[in-house]
Amino acid sequence: MVVFNDEFSCGIPFMDNSTKRFISELNKLSDAMKNGEGRQYVIFAIDYLKDFCETHLAFENKVMAQYEFYDEASHSKGHEELRSQILVYMKKYEEAGADHNMPLDVQRLMSSWLVRHISKPDKVLGDYLKTRIAKKEKA
Ligand SMILES: [Fe+2]
Repeated sequence: MVVFNDEFSCGIPFMDNSTKRFISELNKLSDAMKNGEGRQYVIFAIDYLKDFCETHLAFENKVMAQYEFYDEASHSKGHEELRSQILVYMKKYEEAGADHNMPLDVQRLMSSWLVRHISKPDKVLGDYLKTRIAKKEKA
């Protein structure tokens, strides 16, 4: 089970709240897999991830633009890569359902997003937003 901790926190409430939900969805998928129900459950994880891209990541993109984040281009490229991967799984599921590998593949995709995006570039963005907000409060 993955637990929300400092490694995944960037100190910006809307991002941290979204990460807590992300972790809970990852844990639900892992539990289903442990119970031998991964293939039946995986579409719920894929649905959640689609919504995560369309709402949370889209909002994060807006915030980056609004606050003129210096690394906006490469950061939003990372978001777009996740979104296209999710769409591939969505299409695969719609065409043929969940094969044996799909639950593990989606679980790995989520774990890797946590480690490679949430605990890295999102932290950089969080630090940037904190300094921007602090400057605004001083002005
Ligand atoms: Fe991000």
